[in-house]
Amino acid sequence: MQPVVTIPSSPDLSGSHPAGGAACVRQGDDAADADACQAAVQGLREQLAGSIVGQQGLLDRLVVALLSGGHLLVEGLPGLAKTTAIKALARAVHASFQRVQFTPDLLPGDLTGGDVYLPAEGRSRFVEGPLFHDLVLADEINRAPAKVQSALLEAMQEGQVTVGGRSHALPPMFLVMATQNPLEQSGTYPLPEAQLDCFLLHVVLDYPSAEQERRILDMDLARAGQAPAEAPGALDAALVLQARRRVRRVHLAESLRGSIVELVRATREPQSRSAALSGLVEAGASPRAVLALAHAAQALAYLRGRDYVLPEDIVELAPDVLRHRLVLHPQARLQGLDADAVVRELLRAGEIA
Ligand SMILES: Nc1ncnc2c1ncn2[C@@H]1O[C@H](COP(=O)(O)OP(=O)(O)OP(=O)(O)O)[C@@H](O)[C@H]1O
Ligand SMILES: [Mg+2]
Repeated sequence: MQPVVTIPSSPDLSGSHPAGGAACVRQGDDAADADACQAAVQGLREQLAGSIVGQQGLLDRLVVALLSGGHLLVEGLPGLAKTTAIKALARAVHASFQRVQFTPDLLPGDLTGGDVYLPAEGRSRFVEGPLFHDLVLADEINRAPAKVQSALLEAMQEGQVTVGGRSHALPPMFLVMATQNPLEQSGTYPLPEAQLDCFLLHVVLDYPSAEQERRILDMDLARAGQAPAEAPGALDAALVLQARRRVRRVHLAESLRGSIVELVRATREPQSRSAALSGLVEAGASPRAVLALAHAAQALAYLRGRDYVLPEDIVELAPDVLRHRLVLHPQARLQGLDADAVVRELLRAGEIA
């Protein structure tokens, strides 16, 4: 029979524990631990703002994706700090980072790695490809053909890579930020809907303001060609995973759960919410979008220092969660409507409360 161990409810163990105080402090001080974890996440956000001017949406979404274990699709013109932002994140969380340029001649094995025969040992050994990093930047994802995109899809969905019938686990922090250039469409392979659904968020970037652009220039001149200073990161992999567990416990009220489900269902039958949208949406979002919106809202609430979700978290994230999951009828384009306009109208015509 196993001995029964009783843990005192008020842990006054100072000096009495043979292994020393640290474990006791951890057990008895969970609230302080929780505060420290949340403060570290906010410190991470501030650290990112120290190397990137503006682009708050991108920086918030990067942290939200990191905290929810999701992936990002980022659409933006060249030079809008996409690479700079994910590199800064990698530095701040002590993560390994890899950039992969997607091209038409890329093969799945170029991403996943593969079995290499070792004559000296008379056997094959798996050699890891560039996906085996904590943070992966998949640049111009729509420039590679479908079989490469689906290799990335498996990695994103399963957190593993399968080669020659054997699966190899990716790092627990694994996060993909894929980019698309909205202007260059010739010679591209548009991502199928099934693949788009696997991105937690679809972020659209815009140019910085004139004042921000001036600060970008000032920052560059002040650095005078030096590499960015290696500020010590506020988080490491273990703390990121701890923060993920805490994010999943952020309170999501009954009424907000209902609002999320209703909003996602309204993308499938938009006319039930707004007559103006009748016949304009061919396919709406899947139940995965319900989970994505809930998890992302929990992460945003946590980032903003709360342990409960507010309606405004859901309203803020709904466009990024839904815009890539809607298939519009050609009629919508003729009326000058895009997915963002549809989501805006759905939010206007219904309440998140
Ligand atoms: N908001 C910003 N804050 C700080 N630096 C910026 C900002 N926007 C652009 N830059 C600077 O502009 C340059 C280009 O940025 P970066 O390489 O990150 O762009 P990108 O979005 O990855 O472009 P591409 O699509 O061509 O890969 C970098 O030197 C970067 O520091
Ligand atoms: Mg780049």
